[in-house]
Amino acid sequence: EKGTYPHFMLKEIDEQPFVMRKIIQEYQDENNDLKLDEDVRNAMKACDRIYIIAAGTSYHAGLAGKQFIEKMAKIPVEVHVASEFSYNMPLLSEKPLFIFISQSGETADSRTVLVKIKELGHPALTITNVPGSTLSREANYTLNLFAGPEIAVASTKAYTAQIAVLAILAVDSARAKALKLDFEPLQELAIVANAMEVLTDQKEAIEELARDYLSVSRNAFFIGRSTDYYVCLEGALKLKEISYIQAEGFAGGELKHGTIALIEDGTPVIALATQPEVNYGIRSNVQEVEARGANAMVISMRSLEQDTDAFVVPQVHELLTPLVSVVPMQLLAYYAALHRGCDVDKPRNLAKSVTVE
Ligand code: F6R
Repeated sequence: EKGTYPHFMLKEIDEQPFVMRKIIQEYQDENNDLKLDEDVRNAMKACDRIYIIAAGTSYHAGLAGKQFIEKMAKIPVEVHVASEFSYNMPLLSEKPLFIFISQSGETADSRTVLVKIKELGHPALTITNVPGSTLSREANYTLNLFAGPEIAVASTKAYTAQIAVLAILAVDSARAKALKLDFEPLQELAIVANAMEVLTDQKEAIEELARDYLSVSRNAFFIGRSTDYYVCLEGALKLKEISYIQAEGFAGGELKHGTIALIEDGTPVIALATQPEVNYGIRSNVQEVEARGANAMVISMRSLEQDTDAFVVPQVHELLTPLVSVVPMQLLAYYAALHRGCDVDKPRNLAKSVTVE
């Protein structure tokens, strides 16, 4: 039920702090330590490489998951778009573990891959919001997202839930291998939940930005580097699917390799700056597009804030920035769609779960 909300999407964006707290609760034991299925832990320990398979928004969450698993658990990870993997399978490692990320657990493209890799005898873990779903039943292991039903076609709380669960999985695997970490995922996720609440209380500011930057434009670009690049892919997908603005997310460093040719007077460019090591680079990119007339908006993290930034998100752990930086992007897409009179919850040509290839 939507309750007092005009759209499911807005309700689901607002639910994200609660979903974070639910995940903390579900993945915590009575001593407040991480709690994870022993079989999943062993599967992570036994593999020599992880293949993450997903589509759309879940693919974008997988990109964040790769970072967590490689940085913390030190296992190499490849992230693949399901429909590509099926027909263009890479050379597999000796002991692969497949992780399927799917909100619905019903995505046909992902299921095709699951069937193929099972034939090859490889183990599979599904991370899903729907425990009894096809991908969950057919995989060896399942981790649940606990995000509650997601009704709006555009995925929001499932994306952040996927990233949170992937972070937990990565830390658990690191600990299982006795790797030293100074990262307490449950504490850090509690900080994220509070930050998300601060953000969902700032809807008016985002609505104004959506009106100023996106109410009449034909296209929009999202630029970021490193982790921010992944979130930009998601920001662009959200915007295009519900507002029908042609949007592209790309790595800041790629601008000069082609895309900058598209920048003209008034082109909206949304830049994300949450990562200290690429802050200088992305700020230079902003200057480059502004010099060509772009209407650039910087969304930064508190510690990197500059006077001219359009929006600042609260500080969270460097690894978990996508969980907060995506929120203004979700809201930008929502309000852009609203101002343009689009059907937010049911965008044209799209279905909530894509059960055909
Ligand atoms: C975008 C969106 C889609 C899904 C994709 C995969 O907002 O919802 O891109 O993420 O169709 O769906 P699941 O996660 O159900 O496999």
